[in-house]
Amino acid sequence: MASSTGGGSALTPITVSMELHTHNRRKLLRCLRQRLLDSSRSIHGFVLLQGGEEQNRFCTDHTILFRQESYFAYLFGVKEPGFYGAIDIASGRSILFAPRLPEEYAVWLGKIKPLSHFKEYYMVDMVFYTDEIVRVLHDLCDTPGKPSLFLLYGLNTDSNNYSKPAMLKEMEKFDVDLEVLHPVITECRVHKSDMEIALIQFANDLSSEAHVEVMRSAKVGMKEYQLESIFLHHVYMYGGCRHCSYTCICATGENSAVLHYGHAAAPNDKTLHDGDMALFDMGAEYHFYGSDITCSFPVNGKFSKNQLLVYDAVLKAHDYVIASMRPGVNWVDMHKLAERTILEGLKEVGIIHGDIDDMMDRRLGAVFMPHGLGHLLGIDTHDPGGYPKGLERPKEAGLRSLRTARTLEDGMVITVEPGCYFIDALLLPAMEDADKSKYFNHREISRFRGFGGIRIESNVLVTAGGCRNLTNCPRRPHDIEAVMTGAPWPSSPAA
Ligand code: GLY
Ligand code: MN
Ligand code: MN
Repeated sequence: MASSTGGGSALTPITVSMELHTHNRRKLLRCLRQRLLDSSRSIHGFVLLQGGEEQNRFCTDHTILFRQESYFAYLFGVKEPGFYGAIDIASGRSILFAPRLPEEYAVWLGKIKPLSHFKEYYMVDMVFYTDEIVRVLHDLCDTPGKPSLFLLYGLNTDSNNYSKPAMLKEMEKFDVDLEVLHPVITECRVHKSDMEIALIQFANDLSSEAHVEVMRSAKVGMKEYQLESIFLHHVYMYGGCRHCSYTCICATGENSAVLHYGHAAAPNDKTLHDGDMALFDMGAEYHFYGSDITCSFPVNGKFSKNQLLVYDAVLKAHDYVIASMRPGVNWVDMHKLAERTILEGLKEVGIIHGDIDDMMDRRLGAVFMPHGLGHLLGIDTHDPGGYPKGLERPKEAGLRSLRTARTLEDGMVITVEPGCYFIDALLLPAMEDADKSKYFNHREISRFRGFGGIRIESNVLVTAGGCRNLTNCPRRPHDIEAVMTGAPWPSSPAA
């Protein structure tokens, strides 16, 4: 990433090859065939996925900007709505089914592309219309009896929603399996290929640059949404990113203790006041692959003593975790390391007192950091695969918020996002609680009521020898202060 001093971008969007999705399909085939062999089943049948459908609001002039369903995007990279996709498990042939568009499409929405366009562009073996699926799959089936269909059905352990299996009019003409595909494809998504990493890296480079632009633009008196708009402009203008990974969280002052601030009822509309901390959690998505980055900084450009105390504890937690990450390390242990580091920081400055091990046992950390340390990241912000079959979600306070309890493996991309918040809804009951009250310095902590919170979030790739931080935002307080007065970032051009 070249150094930038503000305005414009030092980045060039990377070229996306559909080879990425060919690679994803090959990986799925390898894993699926193995899974079938392991259960003494024959390697026959089709994977069939249904892509997303475009939706209108009731007014037909307002189409909600379409974003492809994530598993479909993973296998086929198709950006248009209304498609189906199949893979012949025995031969490996890939087949797209495109919607047959009405003639008036050409009047209102542009030229109707021929099937040959999709075959070439998406690098698949065959393309037909969606109204031909049943016939084509029967024609391609080389075994007697009904063709087998492996459909996507399974629980998303984050949203608790079940993925919707492909729907066909004549499903009775197939043998349907709803069990096998979901865990296998989900596990494929957990480990990223070099091409996937390149996209996540670009989304990170662009979003890191946009965060710096936001820091430089922040001024007392502005509205939070004006800074959101600067971020959105930057990633769209210089990366063509029409989608972000999630709704921007642009919280200042006490809003920064509202974990998912920025929703319709709290739409990033507060005025920035002198003395506020800002907590900005924003990430662009580039060709389906996302980033998820949080920067915390003082809106007036200069950390106060109190802000520095809390910020330092969170930064230490962020840095210690990243320094400890490598294959074989368990994520629950990393969460506990972050909690312990934050508690030690709070104890050092006198906000809490007592034995840190006791605090850990009584889960005091969850009062200050109620969310999990981080989550898998990819085509979804909270990428699936955090709890494969057999891995239990922890039950204790704080730990049960973890979106994964896995042991780290080479190729995982995971967010590291420790935070420390002063949330009345958690703090006040804890200060009254018979088990926890003794740990709080009630007078000191009252100085932090209304402070809000601090989160530092980076996206980290686990490598064979350790890990690599894909995010490049100023983190050290003096770097943040320097950048906010216009110093270049990255500070050294070689960085
Ligand atoms: N941006 C939501 C999260 O950090 O998980
Ligand atoms: Mn985030
Ligand atoms: Mn996150």
